[in-house]
Amino acid sequence: MRTQVVIVGAGPSGLLLGQILYRAGVDAVIVERQSPDYVLSRIRAGVLEQVTLDVLTHAGVDQRMNKEGLVHTGFDLLFKGARHRIDLAALTGGQKVMVYGQTEVTRDLMDARQSAALTTIYEADDVQIHGFDTTKPSVSYRKDGKSHTIECDFIAGCDGFHGVCRASVPKQSIKEFEKVYPFGWLGVLSDTPPVHEELIYANSPRGFALCSQRSHTRSRYYLQVPLTDKVEQWSDDAFWTELRHRLDPEARDQLVTGPSIEKSIAPLRSFVTEPMRFGTLFLAGDAAHIVPPTGAKGLNLAATDVKYLSDALIEACVEKSHAGIDHYSARCLARIWRAERFSWWFTSLMHNFPDQGEIGQKFQEAELDYLVHSDAGSRTMAENYVGLPLNFGESLRSTHA
Ligand code: APR
Ligand code: PHB
Repeated sequence: MRTQVVIVGAGPSGLLLGQILYRAGVDAVIVERQSPDYVLSRIRAGVLEQVTLDVLTHAGVDQRMNKEGLVHTGFDLLFKGARHRIDLAALTGGQKVMVYGQTEVTRDLMDARQSAALTTIYEADDVQIHGFDTTKPSVSYRKDGKSHTIECDFIAGCDGFHGVCRASVPKQSIKEFEKVYPFGWLGVLSDTPPVHEELIYANSPRGFALCSQRSHTRSRYYLQVPLTDKVEQWSDDAFWTELRHRLDPEARDQLVTGPSIEKSIAPLRSFVTEPMRFGTLFLAGDAAHIVPPTGAKGLNLAATDVKYLSDALIEACVEKSHAGIDHYSARCLARIWRAERFSWWFTSLMHNFPDQGEIGQKFQEAELDYLVHSDAGSRTMAENYVGLPLNFGESLRSTHA
C-alpha cells in the first residue's frame, strides 16, 4: 500500500491530523495498536481553549461540541477554606474556555473519519517505522497474522507517550527533559450533578483536590494521593469523605455523591522531547510532551501541534514547499515550553509536596492570596489558563528584530 502520510496512533492527535489532511486533499492512513472501544475508554481532561475550538472548527467537527459543550467564563481557587473566583472573561477581554470531554472530541473525530470512509487500521501489532532519515519512509505492522507495509512521504508519530515513534529515534539525535512528581491523581467519574457550575481547584494541607464536570449531570473529581496508593484501596465512600475534607463548608454541604462509574490513579509528569522532527518523521501530542494535568493543557497542546503539523504537511504535499516542515519543531516547542511552565507552576502551587513542611504550605497560601487580590497576578493566571494566542511571541520578536 502507498499513501502520502502514515499517522501512527488514533488518539485525538492522530485523528485530528487525519481529518485536517483529508479536508485539504492529502491522503493519509492511520495505524493504531488498540481497538476503537479501548481508545474511547481512556478518560482524560476536558477543558478546551479557544485556540483548540478554532482548530476543531477548522477540522469540521464542531457541531456536537457547540451544542453540548459547557462554556465557562471563570473558575474558583480554594485555599485556607475559602473560594475566590478567577473571572477569565473580565481578565482577558472576554475569553472563555469550553468544558467538553476528550472522549467526546475523540468520538466526534472517529465519526467524521468513518463518514468519510477513511482508512484506519485498528489492532495493528508490531508497528515499526523505517527509513525516516530518507525521503522514502515506510511503516510496517502485523494484522490477523499477516505482515503489511505502507510506503509514504511522511510519518506522523501521534502514538502517545509509550509509542514506537519517539522510541525509534537514535538516542544521540534526541534530548528528553523530564520531571516526575511525587504524587498521583485519583480520579472519579460519577453520574451526579457537579458541586458547582464552574471548576474548583483546591489547595489544602491534606493535598490538592479538583471538582470538574462533563455535563450538568456528570461530575469528574480528583484527589492528590501518594504514588504508593492503589485504586482498590479507595472505596467510593473513602473518596467522598476525603474530598469533603478538602472543600470549603458550602461546597461540602452541596456535594452530591453517588457510585463511581470510573476510578483510576494517574501519575503526574512534565516531559518534553527536542526536537520534534527527524527527517521525514514528525512527533505530535503526547508522543513529544506530557504536562501534569493541573490546568488541562495536554489536549490543547496536542491540538496546536496538529495545527502546525497539518499546515506544514499540506504545504509540502500540495504546494511542494518545505518551509513549514523546517519550522515545525521550533514553532511547536516555543508554545509547548510556555504551557509546560504554566502546568508545572500551577501544579507546584496547588499540591502538598512531601518535603514542603508547614512553611511550604504558608508560602503557597501567601502566593494564592497575592494572585487573587492582585490584578496583575489574576491576569497572569487567567491569560495562561485560557491559552496564549497561536502567534504569541511572534509579533514581539518582529518588533525587536
Ligand atoms: N503503534 C500504533 N499505535 C500506538 C502505538 C504503536 N506502537 N503505541 C501507542 N499507540 C496509540 C495508542 O493506543 C493511542 O491510541 O497511539 C495513541 C496515542 O493517543 P494518546 O495517548 O491519547 O495521545 P495523543 O493523541 O497525542 O493525545 C494527547 O491525550 O494524554 C492526553 O493529555 C493528553 O489530552 C492529551 C491527549
Ligand atoms: C477534567 O475535567 O478531567 C480536568 C479539568 C481540569 C483540569 C484537569 C482535568 O485542570
